[in-house]
Amino acid sequence: MDKATPYPSLFAPFTLAGRPLRNRIVHASMNTHMAENTRVTDRLIQYHANRARGGAALIVTEPISMAPHQNVSYRARAWNDDNLDALKRWADAVESEDCRLLGQIQDPGRGRHNRGINADAISASALPDDLSWIVPHALTVAEIRAMIDAFAHSAARLQRCGFSGVEISAGHGHLFHQFLSPWSNVRTDEYGGDWEGRTRIVAELAAALRALCGRGFILGIRLPGNDHVPGGIGPAEAATIASRLTRPGDFDYVNFVQGTHGRALEWHLPDAHGPRAPYRPLYRELRRAIPGVPLVAVGRITDPAEAEQILASGEAELIALGRPILCDAAWPLKAAQGRARDIRYCVSCNICWDAINTRLQPIACVNNPRVAEADEVDWWPLRAVAQRRVVVVGTGVAGMEAAWIAAARGHAVTAFGCSPAVGGKTRLHALLPGGEALSGIYDYQFAAAGKAGVRFELGVAASVADVLALEPEVVVLASGSRMLPPPWLPPAVRDAGLVPDLRRAIAALLRHAARQIGTAVIFDMDHTEGTYAAAELLRARFDRVVVITPREAIAQGTALVMRQGILRRFREQRIETVVLAEPRWSESFNEGKLEYADVYNGDVGVIPDVAFFAYSTPRVPEDTLAGPLRAAGIEVHLAGDCLAPGGLLAATAGGHAIGNAI
Ligand SMILES: Cc1cc2nc3c(=O)[nH]c(=O)nc-3n(C[C@H](O)[C@H](O)[C@H](O)COP(=O)(O)O)c2cc1C
Repeated sequence: MDKATPYPSLFAPFTLAGRPLRNRIVHASMNTHMAENTRVTDRLIQYHANRARGGAALIVTEPISMAPHQNVSYRARAWNDDNLDALKRWADAVESEDCRLLGQIQDPGRGRHNRGINADAISASALPDDLSWIVPHALTVAEIRAMIDAFAHSAARLQRCGFSGVEISAGHGHLFHQFLSPWSNVRTDEYGGDWEGRTRIVAELAAALRALCGRGFILGIRLPGNDHVPGGIGPAEAATIASRLTRPGDFDYVNFVQGTHGRALEWHLPDAHGPRAPYRPLYRELRRAIPGVPLVAVGRITDPAEAEQILASGEAELIALGRPILCDAAWPLKAAQGRARDIRYCVSCNICWDAINTRLQPIACVNNPRVAEADEVDWWPLRAVAQRRVVVVGTGVAGMEAAWIAAARGHAVTAFGCSPAVGGKTRLHALLPGGEALSGIYDYQFAAAGKAGVRFELGVAASVADVLALEPEVVVLASGSRMLPPPWLPPAVRDAGLVPDLRRAIAALLRHAARQIGTAVIFDMDHTEGTYAAAELLRARFDRVVVITPREAIAQGTALVMRQGILRRFREQRIETVVLAEPRWSESFNEGKLEYADVYNGDVGVIPDVAFFAYSTPRVPEDTLAGPLRAAGIEVHLAGDCLAPGGLLAATAGGHAIGNAI
């Protein structure tokens, strides 16, 4: 342990199954989508090696394919010898950094995010889940035993390859959870009926693992803490299950998780709309059910001080980090060295989840453009060979990322920002409900820019002359985008700018705090988080809020895990939606009456007493400086929305690439 660490509990060593842990930091299992065609890839190994090098004491991998029926291409296979060498390299890359590697055993069972038929779905009983409504095949006793046998033999293979243990994922609504829950298990044989029957599959798997792998092999378990399913597993049922399954010695640690891969998915990844470390009260309660068994706390514990407090107050023995250690592989190292301010903090945006589940891409992070790069750990830019004069126009997160990196590489960088503070549209979003954590992106960039020596010209909407006056060799244009006025606005109204876009309208609204009478309406052709956060702000100000969209539902540009939260808050706050509709221009608009028409049958509706109206629409780049600057012979790079309007992920990644390329 580094003696100077301000977090003595977090960096106190620990032992699991006789194996040493250098501190209390666990990398929680996260699907990376980095395995390809069932193969362990170099990228997958690098991702984990980086987190071991960054100081984690124990890493739980993503779910590994442990039985022949788990034949998904993005799961690394361990049920035969296909990956033997790569599994050994994986274990060695992590274990050689004094970090224990555990493979996760998980089966999704019937749970699916997408609708439609899944002929391979299996479960405890032939009952539909609450999201996909897929009816699974109820496993026979023989199939259960064969599966347990396969899981145990695959775990033994991991052990032979150098893994320190395995973790059974029996929460999150997956297959074992489906057996544990009375809501999904109505079996009448020995694997159902009562708590003994419903927990039998997990108890038998644990016994099989112990029999094949021995007591020196770490055996951890994720159990349901509260699945938020009516008739499912609440805290009382969770305590019953935990005390049945975890007599001391059965498992080396327990980790309680929330939600399901169903309608309660939202609880799985607590986002910034709720409190930090939201599951602490639940752990305090459930801890009583597992006397003598180490507890791993998890769930939006983003800051080392929070982790320290949980450990120091005796609420848990270990702290698991999922998104925070994706965001900064060196989170433990920086905390240990008393450099918490150097951590790139997780902003709980769940875009990592969107990457793997919606776009089926390798895991990615808005605040870490270097995920799984060989030099990711505690990265700082290398000096450029030749130093150049660089001007960055725009201090949103794309421009800021390019600016600090270019400056850290030795270039002389001046950054123009039209607002008095950096952060651009992300700063506006950070002022909306649930947005506050987003400041973590530009706060890090601003601090890094200060360290690297960026010169700022803030509050200046830079003209071509302003830029040329600095005689730059390179210009990074990161001047963002503007929303297109909707086509149904008459040209005269559009050109006069009489109807504002949502960003302009919200920025104006934030300048005064008064409640207002009447209805606020947003025309939504955006479908991302910011629009709905704005609707929530409006709800706190106006009597009524209506979101109109031409699509069949709102929030189609967000991942399910975020969409569920948006929809829940809309329902709770009585924010109304009108779908498959577009406003129509009429003279009565100026008198506070908004007409809209159904996009299919043309039926007209009217919203009276409209006191606020704004549109949130597709954006076009604000790149007017590019032409004249190029004509002046300057090398111009476009970053973020100015290149192609997209989200945060594209903005930081784009700025990062340019900062490194100059
Ligand atoms: C992108 C992503 C993928 C995840 N995949 C898994 C998984 O495969 N198995 C699992 O048990 N948990 C998975 N989780 C849940 C995490 O282990 C963890 O419980 C959750 O992210 C909350 O912790 P955090 O707030 O530290 O991120 C995943 C989380 C994220 C963000």
